[in-house]
Amino acid sequence: MFDKVITVNARPNLALVKYWGKRRQGEDCQDPALNLPQNSSFSITLDAGNELLTKTSVVFSEKFEEDMFYLNGKKQDMNDPELQERFLALEKLRKLARTKTKALVVSNNSFPTASGLASSASGLSAMIFAASKALGLEISMEKLSEITRIGSGSACRSLFGGFVVWDRGEKPDGSDSVARQIFDENYWSDLRIVICLTTQEKKKVSSRSGMKQTVATSNLYKVRPAIAEENVRSIESAAKKKDFETFGKIIMTDAMNMHATMMDTRPPIIYINDISKEIIYAVEELNEEEGRIVGAYTFDAGPNACIICLEKDVNKIIRKLESVEGIRNVMKAKVGKGPELLSDDQNSLIDMKELVPVS
Ligand code: DP6
Repeated sequence: MFDKVITVNARPNLALVKYWGKRRQGEDCQDPALNLPQNSSFSITLDAGNELLTKTSVVFSEKFEEDMFYLNGKKQDMNDPELQERFLALEKLRKLARTKTKALVVSNNSFPTASGLASSASGLSAMIFAASKALGLEISMEKLSEITRIGSGSACRSLFGGFVVWDRGEKPDGSDSVARQIFDENYWSDLRIVICLTTQEKKKVSSRSGMKQTVATSNLYKVRPAIAEENVRSIESAAKKKDFETFGKIIMTDAMNMHATMMDTRPPIIYINDISKEIIYAVEELNEEEGRIVGAYTFDAGPNACIICLEKDVNKIIRKLESVEGIRNVMKAKVGKGPELLSDDQNSLIDMKELVPVS
């Protein structure tokens, strides 16, 4: 019935006001599988040329007896509970399309191997964007972000380019917990992101289980959602004014606020390492020396640092970072676009005739 291969490119996003914590079953959440956040978050979509891209091809066909997923050339185990949770988003799309037809999903990340950079956001957004097209569904990007969110919270923000807010929403069915673009990728054209890789190790605690533990055990977390909500409002207004001083301050305090709740978790979750700490000190020192915010650091659920700055200061920051020992790799990124549909012939990761991954 379908048999149409769709291929897309999608990019990761970087949260500048973080999402850390899901709503539990109750008045404002009818089902934890909806993956509803405790607070709104704010992100920029990253463009590092070909370095941070996820390319994904999807096809639905009656020939398939079950869903199949290949990631970076390796067939994945569909019995993996986390993968099953993520594929609930695909299930939701199938329901909308009123079909039970199974899919083949083939996805490749261009990220430096084992770089420790998050790929679930670009991966999930690429898969759901491509799958909606392969099913011929004509639904709004808002609806698509609601569905993508079920697979991975941060992924719903990667459906858009530029500056994105994922609204917490109030409804227990999650229909108002969706992402929206506030400015496109050309809006603040001299904004840059310096990405410092400090480790190649896989993190010990996944975001998914880490945030569950934080919500359940951290006392500090009780005040986190209100702080984050306030930060989203303030950063939106700083972005509107292109006020980098305020923008940068909010980025740093929000990241540290989230990491404080991680450390306050029982047992403590410590994602940053000694090199991350040295990066914090180096950036603070540079800001002090210059008497202004030159760079603003942020960390996700891992020790790699992202430093947000203006184009004119990129070299200054890179020079300062030379004093930090142990940084493995530095990449530069700009604010990037949302998913792009690629013309199928040369780009497909799926052999159009045989409907198998291209070898
Ligand atoms: C620290 O989106 O990976 O990067 O919804 O369980 O898939 P799931 O979690 P995920 O968490 C991201 C956490 C973060 C902050 C952020 O991106 O906002």
